[in-house]
Amino acid sequence: MVFQLMLLQLIVFVIQFSNANQLRLSNTFRSAIKPKANSTTWAVLVAGSNEYYNYRHQADVCHAYQILKKGGLKDENIIVFMYDDIADHPSNPRPGVIINNPEGSDVYDGVPKDYTGESVTTANFFGVLLGNTTAVKGGSGKVIASKPNDKIFVFYSDHGGPGVLGMPNLPFMFADDFIKVLKKMHATKLYDEMVIYVESCESGSIFEGLLPKNMNIYVTTASNAKENSWATYCPDMETPPPQGFDTCLGDLYSVSWMEDSDSEDLRHETLEQQYLKVKKRTFNNNSAGGSHVMQYGTQRISKETVSIYQGSATRTISKDQFPTFDSMGVINQREADLYSMWQEYKKSTQETQHKDELLKKIKEITAYRAHLDNSADMIKRYLLGSGHGPVRAEGSALVDDWGCLKYMVRTFETYCGSLTQYGMKHTRTFANICNAGVTKKAMDDATKKSCGSFKMGQWDPEIVGYSS
Ligand SMILES: *[C@@H]1O[C@H](CO)[C@@H](O)[C@H](O)[C@H]1NC(C)=O
Ligand SMILES: *[C@@H]1O[C@H](CO)[C@@H](O)[C@H](O)[C@H]1NC(C)=O
Ligand SMILES: *[C@@H]1O[C@H](CO)[C@@H](O)[C@H](O)[C@H]1NC(C)=O
Repeated sequence: MVFQLMLLQLIVFVIQFSNANQLRLSNTFRSAIKPKANSTTWAVLVAGSNEYYNYRHQADVCHAYQILKKGGLKDENIIVFMYDDIADHPSNPRPGVIINNPEGSDVYDGVPKDYTGESVTTANFFGVLLGNTTAVKGGSGKVIASKPNDKIFVFYSDHGGPGVLGMPNLPFMFADDFIKVLKKMHATKLYDEMVIYVESCESGSIFEGLLPKNMNIYVTTASNAKENSWATYCPDMETPPPQGFDTCLGDLYSVSWMEDSDSEDLRHETLEQQYLKVKKRTFNNNSAGGSHVMQYGTQRISKETVSIYQGSATRTISKDQFPTFDSMGVINQREADLYSMWQEYKKSTQETQHKDELLKKIKEITAYRAHLDNSADMIKRYLLGSGHGPVRAEGSALVDDWGCLKYMVRTFETYCGSLTQYGMKHTRTFANICNAGVTKKAMDDATKKSCGSFKMGQWDPEIVGYSS
């Protein structure tokens, strides 16, 4: 009898315990979905390029703004960096309008232009993230005034290279400086959790081996540390832009996450679900024009809903179906500008002065790029031999001595000319030169030998600025 009673008590206890557990579980579940009380979501959107041939980066960023706005974020909490030379550009077939999809509507309307033209700089981006108004020059002066409970969403779209992200005004943004800013934000409790989406070539290299997992920052990138990312909705390709556009309208990873956000209820979709869909679409049927979308940082955050970062207001879900995963026509970021110029050239039937100038420009750019490639290759052979130099283990940072990398970039530019957004791909060569322990003097000598008296013309860093 006593035994039976004990058994009964035990059963009751077990039931109570499991109920309590269930309650706790569902609480954890709920808190994972709902942002904490008193939490504000902030967003920083950056288009790192200018010029009409780079239309797509500013189009991406404007589109992102529309998503956040529809999601209920307030303009006072969204900070936009865009050069703003696209909408009213004479080549734009739809003056005053920017689109990010062949069938898409205007995404330019209402975008707060916080930092435009010369104020689109790495220093201002860092100042905005750190909430430091005295560090910011020009622009609206708006910065993130976040509290420890707040969420931050960052989206960046542009050209990049190993360890480096482009900006329309030099210097570029180097990964070590960016990570330092993130560490400072974490140390000074400027946020609760942060999500960063990055589109650029080699975007994985900005975080790989660099971003600690314990800073409450979750990142996805368009590509791994060693591959291109891709422009899409380009003329004469599968899913071309409307008549009259000689330029690509978007980038594959960027339009993949944004068209997903437009077509889903973000209060139910998790960041991980979005990541998986974007990864699949950006892989582009394993075609030559696809890349591997990567995740870095605090994986736990990916279980949260997208709405926490992109807004939870009820929105009309776009009627457009999320495109199927058929291969998309793409062109790699570094070729996209020449591709557009050729489109424009082929289109103009009359032998006009403009056409001659365009051909001259194409030839100059092509020759300069060959010069950059040859020079970087010669320097590499001279200093490292015919191999690739030391190979770092998968998952490790591009370089440990970032000061060395920046020095090597500056040295190269001093004798050979500005790297430009195309030549950013050679930062891996310079990183390997650092990793091999090559001295500054040896680099100086090799660079002088390779570029000697090269006439830099418009690509003189004394005119356009140094990348590092
Ligand atoms: C929100 O923050 C304000 C001021 O920081 C505080 O007075 C208020 O109690 C907080 N509310 C909640 C629900 O935490
Ligand atoms: C803000 O930026 C200014 C100028 O760069 C700098 O002197 C100052 O130390 C920064 N303030 C903080 C709190 O980091
Ligand atoms: C995807 O790739 C496979 C194999 O390479 C090919 O047979 C198929 O047609 C491709 N699908 C599309 C939609 O392009």
